[in-house]
Amino acid sequence: MKKILVTGGAGFIGSNFIAYMLQKYDDCKIVNLDKLTYAGNLENLISVEKHPNYVFVKGDICDRAVTDAIFKEHQIDHVVNFAAESHVDRSILGAKIFVETNVLGTQNLLETAKTFGVERFLQVSTDEVYGTLGKTGFFTEETPLQPNSPYSASKAGADMMVRAYYETFKLPCVITRCSNNYGPYQFPEKLIPLMIANALNDKPLPVYGDGMNVRDWLYVEDHCVAIDVAMRSGKNGEVYNIGGHNEKPNIEVVKLILEKLGKPESLITYVTDRLGHDRRYAIDASKIERELGWTPKETFETGMEKTVNWYLEHKAWWQRIISGEYQKYYDLLY
Ligand code: NAD
Ligand code: DAU
Repeated sequence: MKKILVTGGAGFIGSNFIAYMLQKYDDCKIVNLDKLTYAGNLENLISVEKHPNYVFVKGDICDRAVTDAIFKEHQIDHVVNFAAESHVDRSILGAKIFVETNVLGTQNLLETAKTFGVERFLQVSTDEVYGTLGKTGFFTEETPLQPNSPYSASKAGADMMVRAYYETFKLPCVITRCSNNYGPYQFPEKLIPLMIANALNDKPLPVYGDGMNVRDWLYVEDHCVAIDVAMRSGKNGEVYNIGGHNEKPNIEVVKLILEKLGKPESLITYVTDRLGHDRRYAIDASKIERELGWTPKETFETGMEKTVNWYLEHKAWWQRIISGEYQKYYDLLY
């Protein structure tokens, strides 16, 4: 029985990962440590909350007493660290919490893992640590780190800390760096769910700048499979890029959403650009494909079909979010 500490498991990708793992394996126990920030939502976990191999702990990855107690009580042998402040726009409004959670929180988890010992520590990182691309080229694992936002700088800081614990203490670590995810349970501050929610509410769709910034989209379950593969079969000290070759300019994504929902393009509103807005991301995922045999299942078309349908079928989930505390943040930004 693997005993896996999943942090940030009440967020978007973490909750999808827990559901995927518990459905796929009978021989893994999952302890989900989540602080339940604005982005953490236990509703994301209703499919697993009564599962005999699932335990939820409300707490902070920065808190050594909490992480020590979890390792002791559950004899953790694997860590998958999703917990993070994850939104670029919020990091522009206030960077401190990003350093606290993303850098110091990761360091605390590494220290706890070093003290108790683990078979694997997997750090869920992002392609944003590589900075931005021009019109051509791809991020490989050898691309130098050149983060441009406080968010990506804090994720790069965490990656460097993971590297240091591998090099210095031989802690068995693997880092994955994935491109933009989309799918069920994504918080409606991110591009795709925000545009779906606004379109369904006949509200303006705020497109930053000229709408020609490019992101490389991956359906969330494909990311979850890749993390599982890297956790099981990755080589210690290695980085694995994850992506699905779905590069799209933002405006194309927004127009596709409007078309799928039967809403007019007149809802599109160009707004002031994000500060330091990275122009283009594109991932070369050939290493994980070649060395670990991972390939994505969904195309952008099939993934978007599933995603739009999920938001149509789960209006209560996102309406509850956008009518609460989140509205204050939205009014501040737009
Ligand atoms: P999210 O914002 O939806 O979820 C983050 C979760 O972490 C929330 O449940 C929150 O409550 C929890 N959390 C925050 N601070 C915490 C703390 N101090 N202690 C414990 N829990 C805490 O994020 P997401 O989009 O699911 O991203 C998960 C991870 O994947 C992040 O590390 C992010 O950098 C990385 N990532 C995300 C994407 C993407 O497109 N969303 C792509 C690549 C990598
Ligand atoms: O690349 C991986 C990263 O993808 C993750 O590490 C981050 O956690 C995740 O938030 C995401 O970052 P982005 O900044 O790329 O995602 P976001 O959904 O915020 O924005 C996607 C693009 O859409 C980006 O070019 C900015 C643009 N955008 C976004 C919003 C919220 C708009 O034009 N309008 C908007 O209202």
